[in-house]
Amino acid sequence: MSQTGKLYDRIAIVTGAASGLGKAIAEGLSAEGAKVMIADIQEEKGKIVANSLKNSIFCAVDVSDPTQVEAMVKKAVDHYGKVDIVVNNAGIPSKQAPTAESSLENWRKVMSINLDGVYFGMKYGIAAMVEKGNKGVIINMGSTTGMVAFPDIAPYSAAKAGVIQLSKCAAIEYASQGIRVNAICPTVVNTPLVEEHINNSDDPEKMREAFNNLNPLPGMPTPEDVAATAVFLASDEAKFLTGLALPVDGGYTAR
Ligand SMILES: NC(=O)c1ccc[n+]([C@@H]2O[C@H](COP(=O)([O-])OP(=O)(O)OC[C@H]3O[C@@H](n4cnc5c(N)ncnc54)[C@H](O)[C@@H]3O)[C@@H](O)[C@H]2O)c1
Repeated sequence: MSQTGKLYDRIAIVTGAASGLGKAIAEGLSAEGAKVMIADIQEEKGKIVANSLKNSIFCAVDVSDPTQVEAMVKKAVDHYGKVDIVVNNAGIPSKQAPTAESSLENWRKVMSINLDGVYFGMKYGIAAMVEKGNKGVIINMGSTTGMVAFPDIAPYSAAKAGVIQLSKCAAIEYASQGIRVNAICPTVVNTPLVEEHINNSDDPEKMREAFNNLNPLPGMPTPEDVAATAVFLASDEAKFLTGLALPVDGGYTAR
């Protein structure tokens, strides 16, 4: 860790940091000198990530439970003294079905984690920043599916659209207090889960080609591409950026 890192000594919480994009973001923030709380419902994997990073601690949390999210923020403040960066990344995919055939259970579950969870992280994260009187950064994980329609994942898409709007509202509410709020909106990212999905499909070659040709830029973004965007938004280099829904999509939403 460099003492001149862009995020030297900043305190960050990353939800859903036991795997995938959250893990890459936690690693990216840590590499720039931030002290990162790894917050996840998966204890074993989360602790492994926390143990691999300097000055990192793990917090078990179900982001759909406001009491647990409040306790997560309190734990970070008690341990580190303050919170500078909250990355509300934890999320689950939707079961795929057209709206009339999709289940209420799936709707509630996707909403409770992907939208309620982000709202709780913002509510308690921003409150902690305001209470300590420090500037801060909130980064929420949206998706291109929150910007344009995709079939068969309406609950997921609606939750991600909600994440974008929550981010914009809070951005203008807290701008005067130096708290910036942005959403990152990735296209399909080449994570191990996506690889598994491709490899388990009926025709992996065809599916890989479809994903590689989904966006105007060829190929898929990597978790590190998303992490680099999060590090940038968390840093002072982005000090005049707030209220953005920033696509990491190889031009997908530009069409
Ligand atoms: N992978 C993609 O292609 C992609 C594209 C756009 C947006 N996203 C979004 O990025 C985020 C991360 O996705 P990922 O692909 O890294 O998935 P992932 O499954 O690898 O990671 C999600 C993490 O969230 C955690 N989690 C799930 N439910 C939780 C809960 N209730 N409380 C706390 N933690 C919980 C999981 O344990 C896991 O560690 C999600 O919000 C997802 O919607 C992913």
